[in-house]
Amino acid sequence: MKNILLLGSGGRECALAWKLCQSHLCGTFYIAPGNAGTSEYGVNLPISYNDFEAIKQACIDYKIDILIPGPEDPLVAGIYDFFKNDPKLKHIIVAGPSKEGAQLEGSKAFSKKFMARHNIPTAAYKEFTAESFEQGVAYIKRSQMPIVLKADGLAAGKGVVIAQTITEAVQAFRAMVMDKQFGKSSEKVVIEQFLDGIELSVFVLTDGWNYVILPEAKDYKRIGEGDKGPNTGGMGAISPVPFADDKFMQKVTERIIQPTIKGLKDENIIYQGFIFFGLIKVHGEPYVIEYNCRMGDPETEVVIPRLENDLVELILKMHEGKLNEVTVQHSSRAAGAVMLVSEGYPGDYPKGRIMTGFDKVKGSMVFHAGTAIQNSKFKIQKKKISYLMEAGS
Ligand code: AMP
Ligand code: GLY
Repeated sequence: MKNILLLGSGGRECALAWKLCQSHLCGTFYIAPGNAGTSEYGVNLPISYNDFEAIKQACIDYKIDILIPGPEDPLVAGIYDFFKNDPKLKHIIVAGPSKEGAQLEGSKAFSKKFMARHNIPTAAYKEFTAESFEQGVAYIKRSQMPIVLKADGLAAGKGVVIAQTITEAVQAFRAMVMDKQFGKSSEKVVIEQFLDGIELSVFVLTDGWNYVILPEAKDYKRIGEGDKGPNTGGMGAISPVPFADDKFMQKVTERIIQPTIKGLKDENIIYQGFIFFGLIKVHGEPYVIEYNCRMGDPETEVVIPRLENDLVELILKMHEGKLNEVTVQHSSRAAGAVMLVSEGYPGDYPKGRIMTGFDKVKGSMVFHAGTAIQNSKFKIQKKKISYLMEAGS
């Protein structure tokens, strides 16, 4: 039995928690900080997922065997290296890449260069900084519109601009590199060709040598009916993806997944964890839009219910470098996730509103994102309540 600590508080973590706690290999299960939903599956700890010292203490206190970082921030900030460089923590399995591996998500310039080195299909691009501002403007002026500008570093999902005109592109470029719109994250900017196609998300778990492909998904980001209106963190997702047929997935495997894993291995980049391939299908061919070093949200809410294998077993096989011994089973049933959000979202919206009636849900699963339990009206065990009270929930 393994004691597990999962980091995060979103719908992704709620779906992972639901799955992990079902494993016969799961000992005591903790989530930091978790949400009202995850408290049904394990013990929420009032710790920020970016507070490495507090996470260290919790791992020691609760004899954690496996750490699973849900969001990208702690991975990009180097939680893997933090654990492996600490004599008290280095025995703990971390299901996530090294700081260098997390650069696949943490730096667009790093990931574009990686793809170029390994001949992985992606949009043509160039990178620029404040020093090369004039060259950047010249590049924009001789490019075809629309064009895509991306802040190099993490920018909470806001660092990508699709510019329709040269004026718009130059404005966005100036804001990023000269006015430092995203601080350090936009000191460097990737300017790339606009790809016109349909997007999907493909997930693998890799042990650095082998990999298993999890169910694929497609997320829908716009707020309104019929995929209209402003972008959000994701209003829902489906799995499987109707246009990801066997022939297309074969191309994804051969041209994208295999060269990515081989590239990481050949470059000695330590990577044991999830890779999220953000792909676009253009005239039947797959291209990489982005890599993420974690699972997707809301995609996980449809991917994980379709994964028939024991997730703890997969993570242990990952640690042993034996994922080649595993056959992953995808359920033939389809899954769809729909977000319920406060009116006003993704703009300003009221916080702290009460939600009830979850007990009346039949034939569906409810995963929580960013919720908290307000009082002890809910049926939860005593020990869990005390943690929630400490968290001020
Ligand atoms: P990223 O953060 O790189 O995933 O970009 C955010 C979103 O911008 C993607 O999900 C796409 O919808 C869009 N996007 C990014 N790069 C491109 C591209 N080269 N061509 C078309 N759309 C893109
Ligand atoms: N659903 C997109 C993401 O998790 O980045």
